[in-house]
Amino acid sequence: MPEAMGHSEEVLEEGEDLLTRRAFVRVLAGVVGAGYAGAIGYPIYRYLATPATRASAMGAVTMVALPGAQELAPGSALMFRFGTRTSMLIRHADDTWVAFDAVCTHLGCTVQYEPDKERIYCACHGGVYDQHSGAAVAGPPPRGLTVYNVEVRDAEVIISRV
Ligand code: FES
Repeated sequence: MPEAMGHSEEVLEEGEDLLTRRAFVRVLAGVVGAGYAGAIGYPIYRYLATPATRASAMGAVTMVALPGAQELAPGSALMFRFGTRTSMLIRHADDTWVAFDAVCTHLGCTVQYEPDKERIYCACHGGVYDQHSGAAVAGPPPRGLTVYNVEVRDAEVIISRV
């Protein structure tokens, strides 16, 4: 009788070990499967999702605060990020402020402010934008730059979507 009990305890322990191994293998298979699904699924999602879908999924940025930007010297520009977009804040010599998406509408190069030539310029293919409105005025850009609202406060400049 004592032998039989000892034997049954061994069987239970082996069974518990098997269960533990099976559970471990299932969990491991689930983790590996989820990894493969993510590795394959995410690029497909990125390819198929429109920019608007991606933006809404990531919580589109509608406002950016730029602390200290109110000190920007007249006739100069400050590059900043509006969400994922490279953007540009300009304080003109006459103390007017404008902000634009700084991605050229032709093929996506970053534009630059040229105060001495009174223009926003894209060096990639010679695109020229109006420094006050962001309108495309020369070269290949098919349309103007996206314009943002600018609100100058005591300690910061607030940039928001129009
Ligand atoms: S990318 Fe700017 S002009 Fe072509």
